[in-house]
Amino acid sequence: MTEMTSLTSLEGRTALVTGAGQGVGAGIVKVLADQGATVIVNDLFPERAETVAAEIGGQALPFDVTDLDAVRAGFAAAGAVDILVNNAGIPTAGFPQVDFKDSDPELWARFVDLNLYGVMNCTHVALQGMCERGWGRVITIASEAGRVGLPIRVSLYGAAKAGAIGLMKHVAHEVGPLGVTCNALALGSMENVPGPARYPIPRKGTGTDVGAMCAFLASDGADWITGQVYGVNGGAIT
Ligand SMILES: NC(=O)c1ccc[n+]([C@@H]2O[C@H](COP(=O)([O-])OP(=O)(O)OC[C@H]3O[C@@H](n4cnc5c(N)ncnc54)[C@H](O)[C@@H]3O)[C@@H](O)[C@H]2O)c1
Repeated sequence: MTEMTSLTSLEGRTALVTGAGQGVGAGIVKVLADQGATVIVNDLFPERAETVAAEIGGQALPFDVTDLDAVRAGFAAAGAVDILVNNAGIPTAGFPQVDFKDSDPELWARFVDLNLYGVMNCTHVALQGMCERGWGRVITIASEAGRVGLPIRVSLYGAAKAGAIGLMKHVAHEVGPLGVTCNALALGSMENVPGPARYPIPRKGTGTDVGAMCAFLASDGADWITGQVYGVNGGAIT
C-alpha cells in the first residue's frame, strides 16, 4: 500500500462516471467529489450531464458509451482518468420485462450493447492510460440480476450484467500487476424503481449508498482488493 495521509481521500484523482446525469450515477459523482476527486460527468444526454456537473462542480462530458469511436474521443478530451465507474446500464430505448422464450431477438442488442459493450468500450480505453501510469481503478455497476437468478423476467439484462461481472474478474488478473484494480457492485432495487423493499435494511438503495462503496474501492485503502463483486443491496442476497 502506498504511503499517504488518508487512506480514503480521493484528492488528486480524476474520476469519470458514465451515465451520471441522473439516478445512481448522479449520487456516485457527488460522493466522489465530496471525497476530493476531480469528477467528469458522462451521459448520453448533454443537458443531464451539464446539470449534474454544475451541481457538484464537475465537468460534463457527454458521449455514448456504446460507440467505441465516441468513447475514444471522450477519453482523449478528458485527459488522464484515474477512476472509471461504468454506471450507464438502463437502456434509454426502454426496459421491457419479458420471458426470454417470448423475447424479440431485436431486443437483445439493447441490453448487451449498453451493459456489456458499453463496459468493454470504456474499460478498454481507460486501461491504456491507467496501465501506463501504474495506477487505476475500474468499478462496474452491475446488479444482483447479474449474479443470481430472479423470477422477475430480466434474463437479457441479467445475462449482460453477468458478462460485465465476468469481464471485471478476468481483467483484474491482467492489470493487477500494473497497479490497476477492477471490481463490480451488484445493486439491489434502488429508490428510482417502484415496488416494496423487503430487505433486512427495509428501504430502497440510494446513489449515496453506491457512491460510498465506489469511493472506498477507488481509494488507496482498497489497493489489495480486485476481481471482486460486492452486494450493495440492503442485505437482500447474502
Ligand atoms: N435502479 C435500480 O434499481 C438498479 C438496480 C440494479 C442495478 N442498477 C444499475 O445501476 C446503474 C444506474 O441505474 P439508474 O437506475 O441510475 O439508471 P437511470 O436510467 O436512472 O440513469 C442512467 C443514466 O445513464 C444514461 N445513459 C443511458 N445510456 C447511455 C449511453 N449509451 N451512454 C451514456 N450514458 C447513457 C442515461 O441517459 C441516464 O441518465 C445501471 O448500470 C443499472 O443497471 C440499477
